[in-house]
Amino acid sequence: MAFNDRFLKACRREPVDATPVWLMRQAGRYLREYRDIRAKYDFLTMCKRPDIAAEITLQPVDKLGVDAAILFADILLPLEGMGIDLEFAKGEGPVIHNPVRTKADVVKIQVIEAEEATPYVAEAIKIVRRELEGRVPLIGFSGAPFTLASYIVEGSGSRDYRYAKAMMYEAPEAWHALMEKLAEIVTRYLRMQIKAGAQAVQMFDSWVGALGPVDYEKHVMPYSKIVMDNLADEGVPRIHFANNASTLLELVAAAGGDVIGVDWRINLDIAWERIGYDKAIQGNLDPITLFGPVECIEDRVKDILSRAGGLPGHIFNLGHGIHKDTPVEHAQALVEAVHRLSQR
Ligand code: CP3
Repeated sequence: MAFNDRFLKACRREPVDATPVWLMRQAGRYLREYRDIRAKYDFLTMCKRPDIAAEITLQPVDKLGVDAAILFADILLPLEGMGIDLEFAKGEGPVIHNPVRTKADVVKIQVIEAEEATPYVAEAIKIVRRELEGRVPLIGFSGAPFTLASYIVEGSGSRDYRYAKAMMYEAPEAWHALMEKLAEIVTRYLRMQIKAGAQAVQMFDSWVGALGPVDYEKHVMPYSKIVMDNLADEGVPRIHFANNASTLLELVAAAGGDVIGVDWRINLDIAWERIGYDKAIQGNLDPITLFGPVECIEDRVKDILSRAGGLPGHIFNLGHGIHKDTPVEHAQALVEAVHRLSQR
């Protein structure tokens, strides 16, 4: 099969033959092939076995025909090397048994080399690159400092982020020390992935929508910017995805990234105007659209493509991760529709 570089070209805002498309969380539970493996192993074991992680990474490439692979891993993997006790509890999602709440807790966090903390991630990347044989590029990823901090401080997912926000307000020194460590850990983790063969990297700021612009600018943005700046000379596109962040878009774009990922709560044309045309844009179909009929999915694809206006630098994606109960045929129909309707 020919080398498909639509995705990397779009990241660089170069013209493409058709709009590239991949789906956040494309390696996961909506695929029967994933669930078959998941029935035999727990989630962290799957992440730590490079052969399994590589196999799962390739599943959506073969099944959906997407234009990029994203490594099967998790944003929380670097936490273990920091000395944080992480568990994926059944039915509950991630749980941290020793949440970080005080300055003393922050001081104890270890900043070790990514090669030492997560060698299995580099190993999986090497296997995937070998097995892809250039069919599509491979994306590496990390959580953004704030999204990681929110888990580390809250101890789990959260609705209101009260512990994280309370730390910003009552112990700003501890908060900034934590974010500084996380910016360094994220930098090292992504550099390791690039060195191992990741051809683009995405930083997920999944929970940043919990913040107003004042807190984002003061408590978060400087650290996202450090990561983006640190990676500017690595020679691979940097995707900066901020979920539920329509009200923060200018700030997110100013923090940096070659591509800004946007959710579906804003029309793509408005989002791009606010981000600026000197950056590429990724998005932004509501993942739940995939539960609707194929005709409706196609209508929405047309709408998003028309808002992108044929400008170079649009990567089609969902506005957030694909839902675990999504019908696979609808994900396939989406990818096919994006390619067909965007043919240049
Ligand atoms: O995009 C991909 O296909 C790559 C794989 C990937 C996973 N997690 C695999 C996974 C990626 C990119 C992530 C990122 C991730 N992990 C984020 C940011 C992305 C986003 O959606 O905003 C977050 C917040 C996490 C933390 C995390 N890991 C959560 C909240 C959960 C879900 C818990 C649950 O049971 O609902 C996970 C587990 C997880 N990560 C699964 C997968 C496939 C499901 C594990 C399972 O099979 O039970």
